[in-house]
Amino acid sequence: MLDHTYRVERDKWDALAAHKELSDSKLTVKGDFHDYAAHAATMTGVNEFLGDLAGRQVLELGCGLGEISVLLAKSGACVTAFDLSPASVAFAKRRAELNQVAERVHLAAAAGEAMPFADHSFDLIFGKAILHHLDAGLGAPELYRVLKPGGRAAFVEPMGMNPFLRFARAYLPYPNKNPRGADRPLHYEDIRLWGCQFQEFHQREIQLLSMLERGLGFKRRLKGLRRLDDLLLRRVPYLRRYCRYVVLTLRK
Ligand SMILES: C[S@@+](CC[C@H](N)C(=O)[O-])C[C@H]1O[C@@H](n2cnc3c(N)ncnc32)[C@H](O)[C@@H]1O
Repeated sequence: MLDHTYRVERDKWDALAAHKELSDSKLTVKGDFHDYAAHAATMTGVNEFLGDLAGRQVLELGCGLGEISVLLAKSGACVTAFDLSPASVAFAKRRAELNQVAERVHLAAAAGEAMPFADHSFDLIFGKAILHHLDAGLGAPELYRVLKPGGRAAFVEPMGMNPFLRFARAYLPYPNKNPRGADRPLHYEDIRLWGCQFQEFHQREIQLLSMLERGLGFKRRLKGLRRLDDLLLRRVPYLRRYCRYVVLTLRK
């Protein structure tokens, strides 16, 4: 079963990486992880939780084309990053070289359900849109195993409990839409599986009305909609399940 899932995912992401433009100007990454997290629509609270990255051993799960690996390295982290797709890892290597951080970014093709790292290897772990590709029953113990005691992990992940969003993901066109594969945007029972071993575990659902930022192709936050979301989600907690994304923060 897992072999079939791996084949579907690898083929999909290898094909995507093979079609990405490799021009040097497109691969140049501006700023660092802190700048990115301060402005990106989905990274609410991540900077505050992970703190200073300089000199820390940081693991990135499911690095894809390596933009975040480079940003982490530019913030001074010693980065280890892996992805199931060998073509994505090759792309990420080239990107690290072009951005002159290759000596601080170690890349590997591997699966999140069997991480090729020793126990307690990392101070910090980060992942964007990756947990929902993994088998939580196998991946969650791995995540716990490779994090140092007291270490912190943060993830930003799509949620799958809003029927309108499920319809849009399945059938509607929108900018930069990823191809569908074996992934399953998270439900509360998946989130519990990822968090249950950790000493501390928080989830923060984000983007209810402001999910329109994505649909309309905005990369930055629309402040008015954000404020309305904050109000609605505070006053009516039940609505949180219908958000587009969740930020998970974990401490071992
Ligand atoms: C939605 S992309 C996110 C990539 C990157 N984090 C980003 O935000 O650009 C999901 C990534 O997960 C990888 N992936 C899928 N299943 C995986 C698995 N079992 N183990 C490791 N990586 C996996 C894919 O190859 C793909 O690069």
